[in-house]
Amino acid sequence: MRDAPVADAASQALHARLGMTHPILQAPMAGVATPALAAAVSEAGGLGSLGLGPISVAAARALLAEMRARTDRLFGVNLFCAPSPPRDAAKEAAWLERLRPAFEALGAAPPERLEPPFEPSLADPAMLPLLLETKPALVSFHLGLPEARAVAALRHAGIVVIATATSLEEALQVESAGFDAVVAQGIEAGGHRGIFDPDADNDARLHTLDLVRTVMPRLSIPVIAAGGVMDGSDIAKMLRAGAAITQLGTAFLCCPETTGHDLYRAAMLQLTEGTVLTRAITGRPARAVVNALSALGADAPPKEIPAFPLPAMASRALAVAAAPRSDYLALWAGAGMSRARAMPAATLMETLVTELARSQRHDGHQLRFA
Ligand SMILES: Cc1cc2nc3c(=O)[nH]c(=O)nc-3n(C[C@H](O)[C@H](O)[C@H](O)COP(=O)(O)O)c2cc1C
Repeated sequence: MRDAPVADAASQALHARLGMTHPILQAPMAGVATPALAAAVSEAGGLGSLGLGPISVAAARALLAEMRARTDRLFGVNLFCAPSPPRDAAKEAAWLERLRPAFEALGAAPPERLEPPFEPSLADPAMLPLLLETKPALVSFHLGLPEARAVAALRHAGIVVIATATSLEEALQVESAGFDAVVAQGIEAGGHRGIFDPDADNDARLHTLDLVRTVMPRLSIPVIAAGGVMDGSDIAKMLRAGAAITQLGTAFLCCPETTGHDLYRAAMLQLTEGTVLTRAITGRPARAVVNALSALGADAPPKEIPAFPLPAMASRALAVAAAPRSDYLALWAGAGMSRARAMPAATLMETLVTELARSQRHDGHQLRFA
């Protein structure tokens, strides 16, 4: 357990190591966050980051080079840490049969068999050396924890290393594995839920604020709050609960610097049914805008869904078959999607910082006159 002044010192040390003047970490959103987005956030005093989870080492190298060309500021990168999927031919064939009517309605046929569309990044032995060579300021891990030797090597190189946790138990594992901070990801979060074992039947599905309040008194490393943080007053709430930093994904989705911002903007304007946590798109629980794709397999028992990331191959094939229609695209987004703001990332950062300052002034006022 820690007392408040130690928490403050640890948070300040983390901000300093990451060159942050504002406690805003732009979430690493694979395929969506671009170097233009990450650079704009870092330039504005937050920390931008890039998702390298589903891409090759060569593509990661190119993204890192583009990032360095855009800014001298610090930034982060993110890797997935899920095991290679166990194969089950009968289950995979049954899954494709289940999707057959949807493919046929689009005038297409399902793929003959499933193959993983990507491997967990650290499965490529060249990924760790690339990070040790290029030294981003921060490396975060999602969907599980890497081997101890990877954490040690990155920390030895002076890189801040963090990992996502969705429960107190996972947060304690992150701390004891020697990470510098933990990302406490609540159930509101967009994209993949970072739960280590998606087959464990004990997900308490805590909201972000409850999760932050649960883990804070039990950890001595700083906590980064992720999930449903959409404006400055949300940021203030998380800081008040003890978070050192907030990690925002959905808030940035409609910025013109993201891939697919026009689709996200259209989805936000027509958002009638909100977002849903589904396992059927990739094989792991992930939150997406409700559409034709998220509805497919929504009633599938988890046991019948092939392991992550196998179903993603079929989901991508459906999106291709449906094009130019966009209702079969996996539009990852959090529960706060209707509050996303379509503005350049620099303007959004300015807005968030102004709102945060206003909320904190308001808090101070309330404290003085309470
Ligand atoms: C479009 C999208 C893609 C995401 N991709 C990743 C990813 O590649 N790696 C990762 O660690 N988290 C990813 N996330 C989750 C974020 O890191 C973060 O937990 C989440 O965005 C926080 O909740 P919010 O979306 O409500 O802000 C993604 C989120 C979104 C919305």
